[in-house]
Amino acid sequence: MIKADTPTPKIDLGRSVYLETFGCQMNELDSELVRGHLSALGYTFTTDQLAADVVLFNTCSVRQQAENKVLSRLGIIAVNKREGAEVVVGVIGCMAEREGADMIKRYPQIDLMCGPGELDKLPMLIDNAMKTQAVELADRVALQGNRTRRTATLAAAEDNLQLLDLSRAFDPEGGQLGRSAYVRITRGCNKYCTYCVVPYTRGAEVHRPPTDIVDECKRLADSGVIEITLLGQTVNHYVYTHGVAVSLDGRELDQVGPGAAAFKANSNGSSKGVIKGNRTTSFADLLRRIHDEVPKVLRLRFVTSYARDFGEDILHAMADCERICEYLHAPLQSGSDRVLKLMNRGYTSGEYLDFVERARAIMPDVSLAGDIIVGFSGETDEDFQLTKDLLKRVRFKNNFIFKYSPRPGTTAIDRFADDVPEVVKRQRNNELLALQAEISAEVHREFVGKEVAVFVEKISPHELKQSNGIDPQVQLGWESSRIQLSGRTGGDLITVFDAKDEKAANEMIGRIVRVKVTASGPLILHGKAVIAAKAAI
Ligand code: SAH
Ligand code: F3S
Repeated sequence: MIKADTPTPKIDLGRSVYLETFGCQMNELDSELVRGHLSALGYTFTTDQLAADVVLFNTCSVRQQAENKVLSRLGIIAVNKREGAEVVVGVIGCMAEREGADMIKRYPQIDLMCGPGELDKLPMLIDNAMKTQAVELADRVALQGNRTRRTATLAAAEDNLQLLDLSRAFDPEGGQLGRSAYVRITRGCNKYCTYCVVPYTRGAEVHRPPTDIVDECKRLADSGVIEITLLGQTVNHYVYTHGVAVSLDGRELDQVGPGAAAFKANSNGSSKGVIKGNRTTSFADLLRRIHDEVPKVLRLRFVTSYARDFGEDILHAMADCERICEYLHAPLQSGSDRVLKLMNRGYTSGEYLDFVERARAIMPDVSLAGDIIVGFSGETDEDFQLTKDLLKRVRFKNNFIFKYSPRPGTTAIDRFADDVPEVVKRQRNNELLALQAEISAEVHREFVGKEVAVFVEKISPHELKQSNGIDPQVQLGWESSRIQLSGRTGGDLITVFDAKDEKAANEMIGRIVRVKVTASGPLILHGKAVIAAKAAI
């Protein structure tokens, strides 16, 4: 904490910031927006934490492990500060929101805290924290608390929360932004899965106006972006109710989320028109609008989908629009109906399978990914067996598998004992990883001999290991001197292939290249570029 007698840190122009991001894609986007916002104000960024005037940790609270990493960083900074380091330390994101202002008292090395819904206030908080006089705690902390849970303030919350997205920096010359970008469509979550902290840290579900989203996509495309991933906790819940009021800058006001009940009646059909009376833009409408109005975006993706309430209109939009990737990340969490109920997921395993069947009937080649939690309260061997059975039936291309981590403030920690021993959680985790690796290997094998379109991301690190721990290059008897590129197919399968030389490799990064698949493993496809120069877009 900056005290009155503490020497002033260097706060002239060119103050440098070290920003470290933990957790999800939503955090990556928040960090990018923070970086743009602070850069526009004259801050520079450094990767050398010890050289920075301001150190910011953009934190994640979903599992204890993610919070532990931040606590250990804070421990090191406390020592540096005791040894005289003059640095402003900020904890931003979900951990700040979950811990509340008290965290500053417990960890006096922290100078400022900012929740994920208040990030537009960060420059002011940094300024305040840098002042020589002791600044009131209230001026160094911006948290949402439970404010946005009151429907009366939802519209205001929407405007507040939009500020950061609207202030995004674009580079019309192209290049600097990279060729792939995230765009937020929804903030917060109304689902309240019993284990999950997100509805408390990110607040109520608020949807951005479609015109703002389309504009952002257009500006990104004009800056050279060719792949956009739309972000929301439950993207298919997106619905924007166009109000009668219009603000001075022409934006429509009066949008209020429909709540889960509005979707229930529509769960097997259209998600359009869920609110009677006013005109609405559904998620399917939004996808079609972006696809049609921003043709320079060659790949449109979205995460995360919620298996219930996934209207067929969305599946048809995906099938009809060639530049929308046929890829769904729809967390399952468990294959046991009893556990799903305890988790308050709102669907049964049968309903999840029904969703998968509907998706595959409309898009036979759709690629499916999921999330699973092992060792949730009361999960028995039988429950776990049901999860394994469902994994085999769905045949996900991959799953993110997590050990249950009880989170303060959630329903599960209050109501259910964390009674699956750590050793059992670990064992189920490993068993599921092994099973998923088998399934993933089968899914990948089906691509051998076929041609895929790969969005090239980077020169592949040689350390890339298969899940069995064997270097795929050694496995396939390849030398390690060649230059390999790695990227993803539309269905999000990691694909590696050789480039002629470094120049050719650099030219292909950020482009879509057709690749003939020659071999596969549980994690990746290997292939050869098909007349790269011609096929590259
Ligand atoms: N809809 C969100 C989910 C956020 S949390 C999204 O954008 O992905 C991501 C995943 O973390 C969840 O799907 C769940 O599998 C896992 N998770 C959430 N809370 C957890 C907890 N308390 N313990 C273990 N895993 C958890
Ligand atoms: Fe969390 Fe469930 Fe929402 S996992 S983010 S409460 S859909």
